[in-house]
Amino acid sequence: MTTYFEYPNAELQKELTGIANALIAPGKGILAIDEPPGTLGLRFAAVGAENTEDNRRKYRQLLFTTSPQLGKMISGVILFHNTVYQKADDGTPFVELITGQGIIPGIKVDKAFVPLMGSEGENTAQGLDDLAQRCAQYKKSGCHFAKWRSALKIGTNTPSYQAIIENANVLARYASICQMNGLVPIVEPDVLMDGEHDLERCQKVTETVLAFTYKALQDHHVFLEGTLLKTNMVTPGKSCTILVTPEEIAAATVTALSRTVPAAVPGVVFLSGGQSEEEATVNLNAINRCTAARKPWALSFSYGRALQASCRKAWAGKEENVQRAQVELLQRAAANSLASRGRYDPGSVAGAAKNMDLFVKNLQY
Ligand code: 13P
Repeated sequence: MTTYFEYPNAELQKELTGIANALIAPGKGILAIDEPPGTLGLRFAAVGAENTEDNRRKYRQLLFTTSPQLGKMISGVILFHNTVYQKADDGTPFVELITGQGIIPGIKVDKAFVPLMGSEGENTAQGLDDLAQRCAQYKKSGCHFAKWRSALKIGTNTPSYQAIIENANVLARYASICQMNGLVPIVEPDVLMDGEHDLERCQKVTETVLAFTYKALQDHHVFLEGTLLKTNMVTPGKSCTILVTPEEIAAATVTALSRTVPAAVPGVVFLSGGQSEEEATVNLNAINRCTAARKPWALSFSYGRALQASCRKAWAGKEENVQRAQVELLQRAAANSLASRGRYDPGSVAGAAKNMDLFVKNLQY
């Protein structure tokens, strides 16, 4: 084994650190709106909106024109490829609209999941082959960070060694390619909520997955200060009958992270993973108040469903609802901004879909 290594040069380290730190600025989190057309279509169908190319553009325009206030609570947005190159009705490129509010554009770069042979329905993601070229192009187009999601399922025999090590390595290869091209990689191992497992099992699986992930990142000389972790909170499975409190979720989550995530990582931005809007806010709040273990990183949000459900419900695909939908987005962003500082008062923010169940079985994205 050789211990030769080469981290990025000082200039690139400074650039990556600057982006990562801006993404976890106090009171700010990330808005994940990188749903591919099919996934967004399912979410549109749930609120009666038609899934056309222009409706998807209009919906994103609604988000980007919410209010200059949004940039005080949202540090970055994760985009799907097409959105990077779209424009608002008045011809302003979306990237310009986003950047003008002090929000950093980011890009989802993982492609479709493919099955792992011999596994119990486990998978890995495609997308490494042309990743360097795509990252270079996205950087030129104004994106400064990227996201790659791996999904791991808890079952009697899963996640398997095969799935854990493969996904850890893919995440490490992705992260190193991003950094070579000036993009901060958001590393996203997502231990799914699907299943009957209890809190303890989720905690142990999360610890194992994170430990493998950081070993792989080290093996690939990934510059940790220029990365963020996006992962699941430690919760019981969706079908588990044992109820737990936000404080128990917080203690299990913070303990799992403290055992596995190096202090050099500047921040952890959680995915909502099927929690309702209010659950995701209350649990993030509890995590930030939790004293069960040391927390050397910022702990914030990178929510998709839990930031958009009320907004999308209020919009319902109708022009006349745009302003109401924007108010919903702003309110939910404000609630999560408070939660990222541990200052949210549970139940204090209303929402058209605040308690709606947002769980999707075996989410592919
Ligand atoms: P959810 O918050 O809806 O889980 O999505 C976040 C995300 O970006 C998943 O990759």
